[in-house]
Amino acid sequence: MRKKIVAGNWKMNKNLQEGIELAKELNEALSADKPNCDVVICTPFIHLAKVSEIIDHETIGLGAENCADKQKGAYTGEVSAEMVKSTGAEYVILGHSERREYYNETPEILKEKVLLALENGLKVIFCIGESLEQREKNQQNEVVKAELEGSVFNLSKEEFANIVIAYEPIWAIGTGKTATSEQAEEIHAYIRSVIEEKYGKETAENTSILYGGSCKASNAPELFAKPDIDGGLIGGASLKCADFKGIIDAWK
Ligand code: PGA
Repeated sequence: MRKKIVAGNWKMNKNLQEGIELAKELNEALSADKPNCDVVICTPFIHLAKVSEIIDHETIGLGAENCADKQKGAYTGEVSAEMVKSTGAEYVILGHSERREYYNETPEILKEKVLLALENGLKVIFCIGESLEQREKNQQNEVVKAELEGSVFNLSKEEFANIVIAYEPIWAIGTGKTATSEQAEEIHAYIRSVIEEKYGKETAENTSILYGGSCKASNAPELFAKPDIDGGLIGGASLKCADFKGIIDAWK
């Protein structure tokens, strides 16, 4: 059966000391009160190696928020999937709308990143989701399907088993506006049906599909109660231990 996952995406927040503090606090909180789901924290590159030493990887997984689209070499400032893996990280977020929009990451670039991440033994949290304008034109289904086709449907069934999907409507990210649990369930079920068409029922049933976009402790129980919502990708509410733990506890 597919995993329930609550993943934090710290984005460009927390200096090294603050990040270490948060990782310690979370590690203590979850050691004392074991979660009922997989928990992952995705941090800036600079935190990975340190945080990896702090957390109990049995309880908390570690991920990066990005990796390079090149294997290695003269790419000043880039961080490869192999480097990410060498810190002890198990995951990488790819395809986040902020990377697509502000750093011009195209489906082709993301396809390369996904392949490199998988080659280096990382699991990928692959983000998809429509803009407000697309939602208003009722184009959300075509948008998420095209995003899957553009960057992950080239994978074999075996490779796809290492992909977690995060559905994040862009209009709900950091805006305080959450999709209703009905809206989210509808598109999650659609995403699962598209995966089923491509890879068959078993793969579709085994794929975790997370919801992201202003998810917090107060709305997580309702979202996670839906049959096709397997957890969340959490931005703002992952920056404080109590807020993040509140979402994790929605699985209890
Ligand atoms: P948010 O971000 O929870 O702050 O809306 C979610 C995300 O972008 O992953």
